[in-house]
Amino acid sequence: MNLKSNTIWQSVFRDGKPKGYNALLHLHPRTISRDKLKFTSTFCMGGLAFFMLLVLTISGALLMFFYVPDVGRAYRDMLDLAYVIPFGRAMRNIHRWSAHAMVIFVVLHMARVFYHKAYRPPREFNWVIGVGCLVLTLLLSFTGYLLPWDQLAYWAITVGTNMMSYTPVIGSKGPLTIVGQDNDVRHLLLGAESVGPNGLLRFYVLHMVVLPLALFIMVFFHFWRIRKDNQIKRPL
Ligand code: HEM
Repeated sequence: MNLKSNTIWQSVFRDGKPKGYNALLHLHPRTISRDKLKFTSTFCMGGLAFFMLLVLTISGALLMFFYVPDVGRAYRDMLDLAYVIPFGRAMRNIHRWSAHAMVIFVVLHMARVFYHKAYRPPREFNWVIGVGCLVLTLLLSFTGYLLPWDQLAYWAITVGTNMMSYTPVIGSKGPLTIVGQDNDVRHLLLGAESVGPNGLLRFYVLHMVVLPLALFIMVFFHFWRIRKDNQIKRPL
């Protein structure tokens, strides 16, 4: 049986042929000059950042089977991952290292875009969407940091959230506190005066659901803009 005459194939590629401009084959605009497709045009940094996001999603989903965000269990679950669960340590390390790699690739991608002056019209809005992607990537790293519930996690988040209470407007001296003493961003994140069970649960929900969903929506918006903004910017 010919694979290409199959209904599933036809439904994906319409007339049965994967054309060069199909979004499933590459993210670039429908028509693009050959020199823009050279590796040195992008160094594939955006693509690698997206690949890391996919690795993180899959490895994170696997880790969810073995982790419970409860102060009595979280650290024990980490030990089980390291010593009991088959490939648990590898699963955790893949997740950890791809998170580091994603931050590096996003920063390098941003540097490439800046160097090629691709932040200029007509791409200025996509630069703004990109900044949103960067912020969400960093927030994902930050919220993930508390989850192992070891000393490093506990004190890093204590310091991080204390710093947040000094932020203008949303900090502890901002207008939010008019409603009540504890209504600054730090209290909102921790759900208490210090890092504890409420904070762990909030970070868990943010890390597993809210932030990844927001990042995927943002990234697909970013990709849609890349196709609409025409061509890829090369150095002038
Ligand atoms: C999750 C993070 C991000 C992902 C997955 C991502 C992905 C991509 C991809 C795949 C491209 C196509 C060309 C290339 O690979 O360079 C691209 C282009 C672009 N990105 Fe990102 N990006 C991210 C973050 C950012 C950030 C932080 C900025 C800047 C603040 C940014 C600004 C842009 C702009 C302006 C373009 C168009 C470049 C051109 O047309 O030459 N992106 N992005």
